[in-house]
Amino acid sequence: MKSASYAHLLFWSLIIFFISLMVITSTALDTVTPIEPLHDDKTLVSTGGNFELGFFSPGSSTRRYVGIWFKNISVMTYVWVANRETPLLDSFGVLQMTNQSVLTLVNSTGGVVWSSNTSRSVSNPVAQLLDSGNLVVRDSKDDSLDNMLWQSFDYPCHTQLPGMKLGKNFVTGLDRFLTSWKSSDDPSPGSYTYRIDPTGYPQPFLLRDNVVQFRDGPWNGLWFSSTSRLPTFSPNEVEFVLNNREMYYVYGNFSLVTNRVLDPSGHIHRQQWINHTQGWATYFSKPDDSCDIYGACGAFSSCNLANNPQCQCMNGFVPKSVTNWNAGNWMDGCVRSAPLNCSVSHGFIKYPHVKLPDTRYSWYNTTMMLDECRGMCLQNCSCVAYANLDITNGGSGCLLWINTVIDVKVLSASGQDLYVKVPLSKLGGDKKKRLWISIRATLAVLTLMLLCGATLYILWRRRKSKANCNASSKISTNNNNEGESELPIYAFDVIAKATNDFSVYNKLGQGGFGPVYKGVLSDGREIAVKRLSKDSRQGLDEFKNEVIFIAKLQHRNLVRLTGCCVEAEERLLIYEYMPNKSLDCYIFDPTSNNLLDWPKRLEIINGIARGLLYLHQDSRLRIVHRDLKASNILLDAEMNPKISDFGLARTFNGNEDEAQTMRVVGTYGYMPPEYTIDGLFSVKSDVFSFGVLVLEIISGKKNRGFSHPDHYHSLLGHAWTLFKEGTALDLADPLIQNSSYAYQLQRSIQIGLLCVQQHPEDRPSTSLIAVMLSSDCELLEPKEPGFYIGRCLPQESRSNDCTITSLLGR
Ligand SMILES: *[C@@H]1O[C@H](CO)[C@@H](O)[C@H](O)[C@H]1NC(C)=O
Ligand SMILES: *[C@@H]1O[C@H](CO)[C@@H](O)[C@H](O)[C@H]1NC(C)=O
Ligand SMILES: *[C@@H]1O[C@H](CO)[C@@H](O)[C@H](O)[C@H]1NC(C)=O
Ligand SMILES: *[C@@H]1O[C@H](CO)[C@@H](O)[C@H](O)[C@H]1NC(C)=O
Ligand SMILES: *[C@@H]1O[C@H](CO)[C@@H](O)[C@H](O)[C@H]1NC(C)=O
Ligand SMILES: *[C@@H]1O[C@H](CO)[C@@H](O)[C@H](O)[C@H]1NC(C)=O
Repeated sequence: MKSASYAHLLFWSLIIFFISLMVITSTALDTVTPIEPLHDDKTLVSTGGNFELGFFSPGSSTRRYVGIWFKNISVMTYVWVANRETPLLDSFGVLQMTNQSVLTLVNSTGGVVWSSNTSRSVSNPVAQLLDSGNLVVRDSKDDSLDNMLWQSFDYPCHTQLPGMKLGKNFVTGLDRFLTSWKSSDDPSPGSYTYRIDPTGYPQPFLLRDNVVQFRDGPWNGLWFSSTSRLPTFSPNEVEFVLNNREMYYVYGNFSLVTNRVLDPSGHIHRQQWINHTQGWATYFSKPDDSCDIYGACGAFSSCNLANNPQCQCMNGFVPKSVTNWNAGNWMDGCVRSAPLNCSVSHGFIKYPHVKLPDTRYSWYNTTMMLDECRGMCLQNCSCVAYANLDITNGGSGCLLWINTVIDVKVLSASGQDLYVKVPLSKLGGDKKKRLWISIRATLAVLTLMLLCGATLYILWRRRKSKANCNASSKISTNNNNEGESELPIYAFDVIAKATNDFSVYNKLGQGGFGPVYKGVLSDGREIAVKRLSKDSRQGLDEFKNEVIFIAKLQHRNLVRLTGCCVEAEERLLIYEYMPNKSLDCYIFDPTSNNLLDWPKRLEIINGIARGLLYLHQDSRLRIVHRDLKASNILLDAEMNPKISDFGLARTFNGNEDEAQTMRVVGTYGYMPPEYTIDGLFSVKSDVFSFGVLVLEIISGKKNRGFSHPDHYHSLLGHAWTLFKEGTALDLADPLIQNSSYAYQLQRSIQIGLLCVQQHPEDRPSTSLIAVMLSSDCELLEPKEPGFYIGRCLPQESRSNDCTITSLLGR
């Protein structure tokens, strides 16, 4: 963050609000503004209201701490703790200011358990929580950020907030680094730290008890070299500063709720709060895989997850200990196959797309260009590799490695070029050279043939297909002579562009099979993109067959699949975009549930039933949805319901015809007993989920997590109890309780209860449901529903309707 934005931020903070704390000692009262101390039962809120300072007890702990947390978000997230090593043992605590401008935390016996080590004292000190989450002590007459007497941003805990510098001030010696909590309910310093080491060229390290676990790599002008996925934030949001006075990393955009956290298990996450999912989305979490472990492959080798084994010696190097290496213990690394002889000529082998080696063993110059850098490395016998320091603007600066190259990881999308020095003889011995030339010739011929073939093929496809702006090709779905329909296949780049590279800002939600993003194609069309998670064990052809199969299902109550994309590991499904989000956003949200009156809700229930009937019967390809739930019912502009995610369970599991599965796909609260317990599924499992959905739509309450002051019944048990007592209408959301709806409501509740019967054979078929909904036929009396008692529902504390995908042990 530039100092201009700091000043701006501070300006606004000061205008509106500040709170200050009192002087306890009574001398020199005339020189001090009398102010209020902060007691345990009070909190202090920043001007913009984004942060709150107060007393808290994390998790199950009873100890009291003074700290700062995000306000206005539903998941308690602490960002700073004052007395992390010296908790208060009871709820008597006062945070106050001494006449020395020192902020102190005093316990019940008057002892000081924590204090700010303020550098100098002034006559009118004030403490203030800035909008950035920074707690500062300053002179009440001087609000310049450079003149703070003390600030919490200089003493980070486990979180780096936007605008907070992480790194070292060489003049004052102040080193700001993150220290993990011991556990989620103990903020005292854990074993992990994340700090920037200035040795050689600076780079952040994640250490455990001061032993390097993970290295983030040097800053390359855009990001730290270990970053494997191209970040979606703009370059002006991140900054790495290195000069004689200081070295620090800062990121930030105060308009976002975001943080960087070092968790107790030693992972650093960059997170962003997503308002509509009410959860943290993680941009990245490091270390992420076995190649991230520091020095996993030892010296002069590179780690590549795509290789087997993942470690390979660099060209001209051999394993130091062949036995260890072959046993999978690669930490010893590799050594030169022939001893280094500086009198022979050398050249370089380029390793593209890598995380640069440990720069503690490096030398750098920020102005040199790459060829000067190469020359410098050739001249110096101890230089073993070189690379550009900064990759922006075509590359600049020079990094030279002295004596060793260690901790190189191959990254597929990002990374940069590394040049490793080898004797010229290794670059092309006579035999090897000839072999290489013949390989190259063969490759050239092959490429030429491929190109010709591809061109001919494309020309042929072009003539066949109608002109279409974005779709690069299409899959024909008319192999059953069901009328002409073609499914466009999009290039991955096109979709990546449309979704801002799958930015978290574009994320609409997380389904059972992967996240869904909103995208806008270059012609302005809005799409929803489902990025299937990688664990689909399907081959390309199978996947295409399944997609064609799903594309054939067309009904006004099903979301329409408009395209797909298969490239390398990626499997994307492209759907029409539904502007009104999903049903759960309306029925469970007290601020928007009045948008749906009873006639509209009944229409939605009818629509879902028609969509389900089509899946179960009319489509000729009987499909069991297996994850029918409120968040899978999308609403179009006219609030017509459209079932989404149908056919996906099938896509993931292949064409299973047997009625039992090892892999339970579904959502707690919607799954019938026989499926949850035995993995048995049939159309009647969907009927159960439909019944739950009907009762949820009527009551405006979630089945999962439902609680009632009088009993432990689930929503289903509650509905049945009311029904038996003849007071079924009490179940209805107060907003739709209206005597003119009584008959329809009563009937719908009864249908809902019939659908959630314990035994599948007691539940109506989908076609019977349609009949019951659309006529006045007599209804059966429901028996006790499945999952009658709420406590039987497997509880999960973090989320109330998370989709589960798990293996059933059999
Ligand atoms: C602050 O208070 C202490 C203890 O009461 C007193 O000795 C000291 O003189 C005071 N300092 C100033 C600057 O007023
Ligand atoms: C604040 O405390 C730290 C560590 O306790 C110490 O290194 C530093 O010198 C102190 N600063 C001042 C201004 O006293
Ligand atoms: C901060 O984030 C907002 C919302 O994504 C964006 O519009 C804005 O451009 C960002 N600011 C900077 C300085 O990048
Ligand atoms: C987040 O949602 C709340 C209500 O749910 C709303 O008041 C707030 O303005 C939203 N914030 C943003 C940044 O959209
Ligand atoms: C960096 O390289 C430039 C160009 O070769 C040179 O003028 C400059 O003195 C070098 N700087 C250092 C610190 O070596
Ligand atoms: C090679 O470079 C290193 C780092 O700059 C330096 O310490 C060493 O003296 C150089 N060696 C020679 C032979 O120039």
